[in-house]
Amino acid sequence: MFARTFELALVVSATALLPAAAFGQQYVGSEKCKTCHNAKDKGEMYTKWKATQHAKAFETLGSEAAKKLNKGADAQKEGKCLKCHNTEAAVPADKLAKSFKKDQGVGCESCHGPGDKHVKARMASEDDSTVTDAEVVRAPGEKTCLTCHNKESPTFKGFKFAEAAKKIEHKNPSKKSQ
Ligand code: HEC
Ligand code: HEC
Ligand code: HEC
Ligand code: HEC
Repeated sequence: MFARTFELALVVSATALLPAAAFGQQYVGSEKCKTCHNAKDKGEMYTKWKATQHAKAFETLGSEAAKKLNKGADAQKEGKCLKCHNTEAAVPADKLAKSFKKDQGVGCESCHGPGDKHVKARMASEDDSTVTDAEVVRAPGEKTCLTCHNKESPTFKGFKFAEAAKKIEHKNPSKKSQ
């Protein structure tokens, strides 16, 4: 009974947190993105992401500080904390592909949306100019960040988009226009 109520709560929070294009597609997990987005000359996005707190956001919930913030209870089991600290918790279970590795923290798809359509399209085409926003969220903006960086976070101290975006930057240096 409790488990069912808990599950429903997660589904409701997911609706609020994820980009509209999210539904109807599968989340493949950050490890899958690594297979194509970790070349050094193209920006090594996976390695860069792994070095940010986003990739450690689930671990953070296992800390003493987190337990204290969660009134002494295990925050790694707390839906209301997990929804911002672990991509998995913000996604209905039936949208997680087999490849999705659990507890990856705030993964690529928390910002770029579910990746299966994009992975399939890139495997089918070598023409990079055909990547569209309907396939993958190409440039997540401030709105996406604000779904988690807001007053609902018990440790919130404000959010400056330009500054924050710089800290997690993972541009592709082989693209001359940037
Ligand atoms: C099969 C290889 C492959 C996989 C797997 C893959 N991508 Fe891509 N992706 C590409 C290619 C090729 C491009 C086009 C060239 C470029 O922009 O780097 C691209 C482009 C993108 C872009 C758009 C860049 C732009 O500005 O147009 C984003 C964002 C992106 N990928 C994110 C992801 C994420 C997130 C994942 C994992 C869910 C992922 N990709 C998995 C091959 C892949
Ligand atoms: C799904 C929720 C979520 C989204 C979306 C999100 N963040 Fe975060 N972000 C977090 C959490 C949780 C932390 C703290 C993780 C920790 O310390 O364990 C964090 C931490 C950070 C940090 C500190 C990272 C560091 O390594 O020092 C920066 C900077 C940041 N986010 C920028 C952004 C930007 C920019 C965006 C939007 C493009 C964004 N975030 C979107 C949840 C999110
Ligand atoms: C609305 C999204 C959201 C929720 C809900 C949330 N967090 Fe966070 N958490 C964040 C973000 C974003 C950060 C990065 C710092 C900030 O802006 O608060 C963060 C940072 C943290 C940190 C690291 C703080 C630091 O100063 O390094 C801890 C610990 C933490 N959260 C614990 C929790 C616990 C425990 C809960 C549940 C009771 C929770 N969070 C709920 C988004 C959230
Ligand atoms: C916290 C949000 C967030 C996370 C997590 C995140 N990204 Fe991004 N990503 C962005 C933003 C913001 C941009 C910059 C868009 C722009 O250039 O305006 C971006 C840009 C990109 C681009 C285009 C780069 C270029 O210059 O063409 C690719 C590819 C990409 N991300 C892949 C990934 C992959 C793969 C992961 C995980 C390993 C990941 N991202 C994790 C927010 C995120």
